[in-house]
Amino acid sequence: MFQDPKRYQAKHYYVTAAGADLVEVLDPQAGERILDLGCGTGQLSAQIAADGAEVVGIDLSAEMVEAARDQFPALSFVVGDAGDFSFAEPFDAVFSNAALHWVKPPEAALVCLAACLGPGGRFVAELGGARNVATIRRGLIDQLAARGFYPQSPWYFPSLGEYAQLVEQAGLRVAYASHFPRPTPLAGESGLRDWLEMFAGVLTEGVPPSMREELFAAVEDAVRPALYSDGVWRADYWRLRVVAYKE
Ligand code: BEZ
Repeated sequence: MFQDPKRYQAKHYYVTAAGADLVEVLDPQAGERILDLGCGTGQLSAQIAADGAEVVGIDLSAEMVEAARDQFPALSFVVGDAGDFSFAEPFDAVFSNAALHWVKPPEAALVCLAACLGPGGRFVAELGGARNVATIRRGLIDQLAARGFYPQSPWYFPSLGEYAQLVEQAGLRVAYASHFPRPTPLAGESGLRDWLEMFAGVLTEGVPPSMREELFAAVEDAVRPALYSDGVWRADYWRLRVVAYKE
């Protein structure tokens, strides 16, 4: 998914910043065993562990896991697929921030995480929900189509009702769910382009290097009226937040 941990941390720190709030919802307790699903470079894993929880971080990207191990050698990080994993020991909680919208089919992740929760264990997650980055997606897809590219979306952005139903089908009781906008400032004049390069690589990988500059400029022009004001790019994020329990 992401293979450049330094760049991810330097330019996309807002992903972790927004997740800090979700750690408060998780309310990790000393001695709890907690899985951070899609842990990236491990910043939130470290916050979860700060008060004494035992944290295991899992991420598909070996580069991200290596960076997490370098920064937080006392914590445990493993490379693994959020749609196909298991652990021998149960967890008290599974936490996931800004990762599950990359996992298809979504049921696979829910089945795996439900199976690794112990009785009464909780699932606390935030992912992109319906409408997420809709303006950016529209702008990019239109500009790609105008140049003869028709890639598949790598993302899953469900509505609240759809996701709550999947969580229930995985055997968890949904205690809380919320779908809300979070317009997110992107750093600097190149903020949108940085976002596209970091996160939309799967959509643009067929585009030859010679066309990329002109493509990104065209996307910026298309979405500027909606997403750029007062000298700041803002991504039109919509979040889906869920808290659910294993009975
Ligand atoms: C998100 O966090 O909503 C997101 C991140 C990267 C690509 C698409 C969505």
